[in-house]
Amino acid sequence: MSSKNFSYKAAPYRFVMKFTDGRWDDGYLSEDPNIVLNESACVFQYSQSCFEGLKAYRTKEGRIVCFRPDLNAERMADSCKRMVMPIVPKEKFFEALDQVILANEEMIPEYGSNGSLYIRPFMIGTSSVLGVSPATEFEFRMIVSPVGSYFDERAKSISLRISDYDRAAPKGTGHIKAGINYAMSLYPLQIAHEEGYDENLYLDSREHLYIEETGGANIFFISHDNKLLFPESSSILPSITRRSVKYLAEEYLGLRTEERQMSINEIDKFKECGLCGTAAVIAPVGNIDVNGRRIIFDTSADGYGEICKKIRDCIQKIQYCELDGPEGWIHMVR
Ligand code: PLP
Ligand code: COI
Repeated sequence: MSSKNFSYKAAPYRFVMKFTDGRWDDGYLSEDPNIVLNESACVFQYSQSCFEGLKAYRTKEGRIVCFRPDLNAERMADSCKRMVMPIVPKEKFFEALDQVILANEEMIPEYGSNGSLYIRPFMIGTSSVLGVSPATEFEFRMIVSPVGSYFDERAKSISLRISDYDRAAPKGTGHIKAGINYAMSLYPLQIAHEEGYDENLYLDSREHLYIEETGGANIFFISHDNKLLFPESSSILPSITRRSVKYLAEEYLGLRTEERQMSINEIDKFKECGLCGTAAVIAPVGNIDVNGRRIIFDTSADGYGEICKKIRDCIQKIQYCELDGPEGWIHMVR
């Protein structure tokens, strides 16, 4: 289940920028958490929306930092292109990020609390439509909320099951962060929760054979000879955490890694399994249920497998600036 520590708490300020007559205005910090739109706005009728997710961390030295926000700006541009929305220039994305974080500085959880400030940039089509067509006016917002763990802390590791439903089609929108991908996951997620699972693991929608990802995070496996494996697919979100974990595993932890198509029939060969994502961080997977068969993974290191724990410690230390990360990974807000 999602944790109560990952819920919306309105912050004093949000960054708001509007696109009209073919151009963005300068944007401003607003104290108003509400958006008033025409009932026929494209976001209501045809769900024209996309979003991002990143975090600001308070370090031991009292600095405020973000982890690889350039990649969020780039991925949002990819989402906008696919959703026929205007791109927010990278410099503007950074300006909004710094402004909204500093304006809400008091909301950033203390160092050592295991919390961070979740930042949710999003864009919606605001002008009215009736026939199917993209909006011509848009609103970009960056909102923030203090968060802790994404999954319920009462269970140290999480429980997944293979979903009977599909998440993304081969040439659909699975590789971008469109709101529609999450809308369609609500029903299968409700069923998963009713049956006692934390999340669904989706398979490819063509053959129902290859592992894709969960509703809100990428997945990885660790073999008995300590190799890290990531499922490859063109219909999963290119997770920034995953790309970072792959690099850190190779360069910092001396592990071999591989990205390839992974069949659901091979997962009982692995000793550890984890989810990776901004909200999930590194969440250890204790079991995956496949058609009534339970595959169990090592969670003996306080809910984690040994390698999962090393990966989590490494990335978190870099995110909180306790360990030097690769050049350019940390954006210093203050
Ligand atoms: N996959 C999905 C479907 C997600 O929603 C997310 C969250 O952003 C991820 C993966 C993880 O991506 P990232 O590590 O960039 O947060
Ligand atoms: C994130 O990790 O930032 C996401 O957007 C995932 C979502 C399920 C909260």
